[in-house]
Parts: sequence; C-alpha cells; structure tokens
Amino acid sequence: MCGIVGYLGKNQAQNILLDGLKRLEYRGYDSAGLTVYNGSEFKTLKVKGKVAELAKLLSQQKISGTIGIAHTRWATHGEPSERNAHPHSDCQGEVFVVHNGIVENYKALKQELEKEGHKFSSETDTEVIAHLVEKFIAAGLNLESAVKKSLHLIKGTYALLIMAKIEPDKIIAARLSSPLRIGVGPDQFIIASDPSAILNYTQQLITLDDKEVAVIDQQGYHISALDGNGSVDKEIEKIEWDMTAIEKGGFDHFMLKEIFEQPETVSNSLRGRLIDQQGLAALGGLKEVETELRRIKRINLVACGTAYHACLVGEYMLEEYAGIPTEVCVASEFRYRKPILDPQTDVIIVVSQSGETADTLAAVKEAKEKDVLTLGIVNVIGSTIARETDAGVYNHAGPEIGVASTKVFISQLVVLALLTLFLGRQRQMSLVTGGRIAEELRKIPGYINQILEQNEKISQMAKDYGQFKDFFYLGRKYNFPVALEGALKLKEISYVHSEGIAAGELKHGPLAMIEKDLPSVFICPQDSVYDKNLSNMEEIKARQGKIIAIATSGDTEIAKIADEVIYIPKTLEMLTPMLAVVPLQLFAYHFANQRGLDVDKPRNLAKSVTVE
Ligand code: AGP
Ligand code: GLU
Repeated sequence: MCGIVGYLGKNQAQNILLDGLKRLEYRGYDSAGLTVYNGSEFKTLKVKGKVAELAKLLSQQKISGTIGIAHTRWATHGEPSERNAHPHSDCQGEVFVVHNGIVENYKALKQELEKEGHKFSSETDTEVIAHLVEKFIAAGLNLESAVKKSLHLIKGTYALLIMAKIEPDKIIAARLSSPLRIGVGPDQFIIASDPSAILNYTQQLITLDDKEVAVIDQQGYHISALDGNGSVDKEIEKIEWDMTAIEKGGFDHFMLKEIFEQPETVSNSLRGRLIDQQGLAALGGLKEVETELRRIKRINLVACGTAYHACLVGEYMLEEYAGIPTEVCVASEFRYRKPILDPQTDVIIVVSQSGETADTLAAVKEAKEKDVLTLGIVNVIGSTIARETDAGVYNHAGPEIGVASTKVFISQLVVLALLTLFLGRQRQMSLVTGGRIAEELRKIPGYINQILEQNEKISQMAKDYGQFKDFFYLGRKYNFPVALEGALKLKEISYVHSEGIAAGELKHGPLAMIEKDLPSVFICPQDSVYDKNLSNMEEIKARQGKIIAIATSGDTEIAKIADEVIYIPKTLEMLTPMLAVVPLQLFAYHFANQRGLDVDKPRNLAKSVTVE
C-alpha cells in the first residue's frame, strides 16, 4: 500500500533510493528501510518513523553500492517498528524483499515454514516471501524460478522487489493488484510503485502488469508471465507529468483521489474476509474473542465525527440483522455519561481511522476500567487504540491524507457489515440471508464506479447551488446517518452551514426554516421508508424549498418532485449508505473547490485529534 523504490545502475544506489522514498512520503507511512549490495555484501538499514531518520543514519554509516531496494511501509500485519520495517530477509540473510500489499494466506504458509525449521524475525506477512524464496533456492532453483514458485503459493496482493546473494547483481520485480513501474535508462533502472520516484531520472517507463515478473540486471531487463518463461513484449511509454499531479494520482486534491479510490477500498476491506457460499465473515482479529462474543447481549459503539456516523449505520445493521441491541455514543459524551455496563454481556466497539483520537481512547480506558470487553475498528495498524483494545478488525483502507474522511468512512461501513455477518451468523441469521449480504457486498465496488461516472454532473450541480449559504440534509433509517455525514462533509471543507436531520423530525421544528433560499439534500432510495420520505419532500416543495435527491436508478417519480436527482444503483437497504454517501462527498468537494478553499486541509481542523 505504500512505497517501493529499487535502483540498479552505475551511480550510488543509496542517494537515488533515499530521494525516491522522500518523493513517496506524501502517501503516508510509518517506517522505512533499504538494502544495498556493495559487490561483496548486502547492508540493510531500517527505522521506525521518517525517511529523514533513515537519511540521518545513512549520513553516519554510508552504504556504498550501485544496486539496492527500499521501502516505506504502511503496516498491515504487525505494528510499525524497526523490526517489522522492510526489507525482510530469510534465515541466512541472503534474500531481501520489499513488498506493498498483503499476503492473505501468510499464517498457513508461516506455520508450514516454521515446521520445516525456518525462523521468523518479524510479525509481518511479507517475511514469508523471503523464506519461501530461500526454500526454493535451497532446493536448487535459480532466483527467478524460486521467486515464481513462491508467488504461485501466495494469495493476496503484491508489488515486490527481491534481491538475493545467489544472483546478487539482479533485481526481480513482480506485481499483482499493486502498481509497479520500471524507469529505463540511460544506463540505469529505477523501479518504483509510483512514477514520482522515477521521473526525476527518466521519463521512459514500463508499466508492469498483473502476474508479470521482471528480471533486471546491468545488461537489461527481461519480462515474462508468472505462469510461463517466454518474454512478454512491453512498450516503453514516455511520461511527461507534472510531479505534484502525480502525487495526487492526477487528481487536484487528495480528497478527490480518495473518493475515486473507494471501489478499491471496498475490495481491500473485504479481501479474504467473505466466505460467500456459507454466508460467513472470517475476521481473523476476532478469533481469540469468538466465544466471548457469543454471550454478548448489548453492543456499545463509540466514536467521533465521521466514524460516529459509521457507527449509527452500524446500529441499524446490527439490530436488524444480528438481532443484538446496540447503542451508539459520541466518545466525548460516553466517558462523562457514567455508562451502565455489564462486563458479562456488554461489549464496547470503538471506531477510529487514526486510532489516536483522544476522546475515543478515553472511552476505551473507561470501558477497561469497568472490565468490559473492548474491540477496535481501526485503520492505522499499531495505533494506540489498536493496541489498547482487547481485539479488533483493521479497515485496510490504506493511508487517508485528506482531513475530511471519505474512503475510510466507506471502509468502516464495510467492516461493520462484516461484523454484522459475523455476529449474526453466530446467532439467528440464516445461511440464505448471510449469502445474500455477501453476494451484494461483492457488487459494491462496481456500483460505486457507476456513481463516480456522474462526477461531472455533480460538479455542475455544486456550481448551480454555489450561492446558497445554508443546506439541510435529510434521510431516514440507514440513511439518516448519511444525511449527518453529508452535512459534515460540506461544513468542514466549505465552511457553509449545513445540518443533517432525520427526515421525520422535519415537522418538529426545522420545517419552519424552509423557504426558497434553503435547499435540502434528500437521501431517498427506494427502501422501506421511501414513501415517508416522499411525503417529507412534498412538504418542502410546498414551501418553495429546492430539493436535490439521491434516488434509486430508474425512479422516475422522484424527478417530478425534486429539482435535481442523482441516481445510485439498487442494493440491499443496509448497504445503501455505501452508495448514497458518494455523491454527497463529491458535492462537498466541488462546492468547496469552486470557492477556492484548501479542500485537503480545512481551516481549524486536524487529521488526528489527539487532544480532548
Ligand atoms: C471527518 O471528516 C473528520 N475530519 C472527523 O470528524 C473525524 O472523523 C474524527 O475526528 C474522528 O477521527 P478518527 O476516525 O481518527 O478517530
Ligand atoms: N503487508 C506488509 C506489511 O505489513 C506490507 C505493507 C505495505 O504495503 O506497506 O509489512
């Protein structure tokens, strides 16, 4: 998920590797490291923390050599630490691996390798690759064949660079669902997960495709399919990109990039966790508390901001499908509320992107004080909340840079849906229902893509509504929290007043404010509360209020009432928030961007709120 750089040429590798890592820093990471071969031995340096720390170490103990690999890590397995930083090695220190992605079946592979006598020195999934390569080299294979054979055993995603003592003048590169490019010449190769680490040296790039393996040495490169030996002919493309645009993947802001990443985010959060035929969720992080969870009679979800909105959706999911009474509380209230908790039957589940939010952390401490089981749904591996909770599930959404949370919100919804499956199937949920949810979850990435295609239309809509100073966001049931989230997105990045309201509450007060200058964004898919929502829309219409509706594809009725309609595909009611929120994120983004505001760093806000 983070950064890879490799160098092979006539210059000192360490300078180019460090420069590359620095250029990849914008992606967010937790540790860094490199390995360089100096013609007789391999030297590895790793640090927890910043590339600047690695540079400091390197200034003290220069590593010479013209071939090497380097990495910035965003931990997925094992806390961020020097030990878990890449490159990873085998038992003898003769194979070196940097890896982006996840080895899903690493546990089984690790157990088998340990039985064969391999000794592991990190907690990462990546390390199994080094030991597999070691094993096949020991069995007599050359480096390329040993790597290919190892990759055949691996399930998951990877961008990989591998070096080894047996053929020390080579770098092997391979990819599956994680980007990798080779910068070609003159007289050198720079291989990286992101062109920004390459373009300073060459604009001639080869893009490695899935299941392709490249062998690179001073003489040149040879690319073959993972399943074969013959060459794959690849075109060298000339890329003339603006560096700042590359960092944001060609998007103007990280927020927009992250919104567009959401189909992939959903796949990443689901990866390896759905057993479709049995309608089950496999959540490794909950294994050790599985039996304890069977006796739970009440769930308490605790979080702040966007994560709190995800919890509100979770409450509907867990009550409707897992049949467990669920309460949701903002963390800043939870700790002072004197919550009544029963250690026998309650569980506290905290949800946090950063895993460092002070209020949420305090809630964990409060729960522990009362001896209640605490679980975390956290994105940042090894963060304080991840460490303080008894067990949990990681989002696997990758780093989120924009202060306004988008892709992590979607991943929180995915994890809560998985948790609903997990707890529901432990109880009354039928195989058929479980299977139906699993089947529909698989379709969400494709559905989000369909919504993203309407980006231009939403941008135009943001322009048309650009002069308004107040907005209402309305929804019911699963989409009431989406109304809250839509309103939060708009206010935090555009500084325009917006309010999320449960549509049924309209007549209890907010309706008094409706007039032609207060538009309402209505989340109104064809679900169990559709008719009720329509009545509320009529009430607004009757008072000259403008309406933007988020509706189910094919709903022509709604176009007769609403001034604007954005359509989302039909899905299970419990999953509609994963779709309905996307147009609201885009609307907020364009609205703020058209005002010339700093979308990624809104005033007065921080990405991680570590103060009370
Ligand atoms: C989201 O757009 C906000 N920036 C904010 O509400 C955020 O969700 C909240 O501070 C919680 O952060 P956490 O998920 O890192 O705990
Ligand atoms: N899964 C690997 C790890 O946790 C790689 C993470 C990454 O992509 O940075 O170390």
